[in-house]
Amino acid sequence: MRKIIMDVDTGTDDAIAIMAAVMAPQIEVAALCTVHGNTSVSNTTKNTLRAAFAAGREDIPVYPGAAGPMVKDLSEVRRIPVPEPVLGGTAEVDGVTVSMNPDLLPLPDPSCAPQATPAPLYYLEFLRTTTEKVTIVATGALTNLGLALSLDPMLAEKIEELVIMGGGVKKSNITASAEANFYKDPEAAAIVLQCGAPITLCTLDATHSCALTESHERRLRAIGNTAAVFTANDVRARRESYARFQPLERAGTAPIHDALCIAYLIDPTVLTCVEDAACMVECSEGIGDGRLQVDTRSFHAAPNVRLVTQADPDKMCDILAEVFSGRGGV
Ligand code: BDR
Ligand code: CA
Repeated sequence: MRKIIMDVDTGTDDAIAIMAAVMAPQIEVAALCTVHGNTSVSNTTKNTLRAAFAAGREDIPVYPGAAGPMVKDLSEVRRIPVPEPVLGGTAEVDGVTVSMNPDLLPLPDPSCAPQATPAPLYYLEFLRTTTEKVTIVATGALTNLGLALSLDPMLAEKIEELVIMGGGVKKSNITASAEANFYKDPEAAAIVLQCGAPITLCTLDATHSCALTESHERRLRAIGNTAAVFTANDVRARRESYARFQPLERAGTAPIHDALCIAYLIDPTVLTCVEDAACMVECSEGIGDGRLQVDTRSFHAAPNVRLVTQADPDKMCDILAEVFSGRGGV
């Protein structure tokens, strides 16, 4: 069984990723760390507790993390308007309004509370002392990991694999050049990409290539439990929003970005284009702030990333359907 820590800015697609991970028999979720991103860290922490509770795993510790980026001014991040939802309202997720499905995710028991230790300190304590390597799945701004790795770069040696949703090669979503998770803390993303741990980077190109359709939505809805119906509703809300606000997308499809990282851990064949690449993140105050830069020179530096740019939407749906219907593998 693969032991993972998730670092999330929950967010509906993070919630789907959390529910899939905790329900997958191939994965053991040791901890959930939260970070600013889709909304404030106080809300992403509440949303994370709610997603874990909905999947019946309120016992998994939730460590609240960074409230803002390492260097960049938080007001700069907030300049691009993002409302502050908790699950149960609506959210602005990569530029589109998404229903948070009020009736579907039950409110956690009042005894469910986050841990007192902040997420970056949890990483320091846990990774320094663990004798087995751990996989980290990061689907929000990379601030917690950037802080922990700045304090102790040797932590990277304890990371078996870092699976990150972030960056885009030909796609962006928050500015003309950047994907949201990298844009919200470019300096942290730059530190993490250079940390030396094996990195699998699921870019926006990949998550859009495996966007789910109406027939995927129907299949998930038919499963009928909380996680599956929540996912089906999120696919519906995203399909409608993308159709209205992002008309250049493949008609009627919805990327549920963060779930791809978990689908990959369950069945790596969901990824259909993966190449070793030398990647960096632009840190500037200009138009390129937070942009993923792939070094394509023939004499480029040693690859630091497995760059994922395509994935299979039918396989993605198969994996989620199998996990949510309790059958485990694919
Ligand atoms: C990423 O940004 C976040 O808002 C989403 O949850 C996803 O992780 C997409 O760019
Ligand atoms: Ca996210």
